[in-house]
Amino acid sequence: MELADKTILLGLTGGIACYKVAELTRLLIKAGATVQVAMTEAATQFITPVTMQALSGRPVFTSQWDARIANNMPHIDLSREADLIVIAPASTDFLAKLAHGQCDDLLSTLCVARDCPLVAAPAMNRQMWANPATQRNVAQLRADGITLLGPDSGDQACGEIGDGRMLEPEALLEAIIAFFQPKLLAGRHVTITAGPTFEPIDPVRGLTNLSSGKMGFAMARAAAAAGASVHLIAGPTALPTPYGVLRSDVQTAQQMYEAALASAAGADLFIAVAAVADWRVAQVHVSKIKKQDGHDVPHLDFVQNPDILAAVAQRPQAPFCVGFAAESDNLEAHGEQKRRKKGVPLLIGNLGPATFGRDDNEVILFDAHGHTRLPRADKQMLANTLIREIAQRLDAAPRQA
Ligand code: CTP
Repeated sequence: MELADKTILLGLTGGIACYKVAELTRLLIKAGATVQVAMTEAATQFITPVTMQALSGRPVFTSQWDARIANNMPHIDLSREADLIVIAPASTDFLAKLAHGQCDDLLSTLCVARDCPLVAAPAMNRQMWANPATQRNVAQLRADGITLLGPDSGDQACGEIGDGRMLEPEALLEAIIAFFQPKLLAGRHVTITAGPTFEPIDPVRGLTNLSSGKMGFAMARAAAAAGASVHLIAGPTALPTPYGVLRSDVQTAQQMYEAALASAAGADLFIAVAAVADWRVAQVHVSKIKKQDGHDVPHLDFVQNPDILAAVAQRPQAPFCVGFAAESDNLEAHGEQKRRKKGVPLLIGNLGPATFGRDDNEVILFDAHGHTRLPRADKQMLANTLIREIAQRLDAAPRQA
């Protein structure tokens, strides 16, 4: 319920992407928002007000002469109730109107009359997006403090391929949630490792662990929402990339080590959430190891993988380093011990079996002042809290020489 207590004025303008906004409405409501829909005349050609009313649970407004508002001033009342106006899809024509402050229908008028922020998700053909007039309008909108979400690139409804697709509803939801987060990490570069690693034995077998990557991805999402530029280095997981995050996929601990050291060299903050395999097979078999009836089972030799977190923490001018510890028992004792061993200012401890694969988690923070227990919470909420805790310590920490 990351949007509990928030009222979103969702404005639809004419474009085929209107069909995606039905789903966006559901996602916003699920996240706890109150959604008030307003539509242009053109938008009603693509999706009906009936659909949008049924999904939002509130009457939809399309006309500035709508007498359902007692004082007959829907452009004032609707914009005053909103914490944020979201225009999705935002057509070429509507961006042009916004850039020039034109108001010739309810939606454009309430945008000009607003006293809250406005974000717009452009959706149009690639040539319309690339048109110099559109780009001029976009530059003006940015200069006016309007945030543009997207557009995305890819297949377009018209059959062409290029820039101009509206962001998918899930990405828009993330961007809207992020919009409300305090920008505690603005200007910071953050490197995060997440997920399990996979150590091959032969071309079809390998060693891995039960980490789902959810906590690391939630940390990446929270850091990006807090304004950081985030590089997420992920082991094998099918999770979608959080909005606005740069992702590199790796498989083995050695690959994660190389990617993390290169990325962390320019970072202010390094958060190691990955469950890195401690050992790898010394000799990976080139061909599949065959079963041989009546013979011994294969014998595997292991070598230890590099400790990524400790290596980053030991670098000159190391970023502020945060570790996660997955223990199976006695978390309080092991957590502080591990923090010291890794040489990091903050370590977040959790019990592996009680968190792997789950959507919630319970952690203890270990730092030089002792330890603090945080209550069990949904992983995303917990990640938001952890990013606040980390940002405070990062602001207070001198950069290491
Ligand atoms: N870590 C790492 N590289 C490794 C092993 C661990 O960067 N090769 C990081 C993890 O991402 C985590 C922290 O170190 O932030 C602690 O990981 P954990 O698996 O709990 O501890 P280990 O160092 O592997 O110690 P042990 O398995 O003995 O508990």
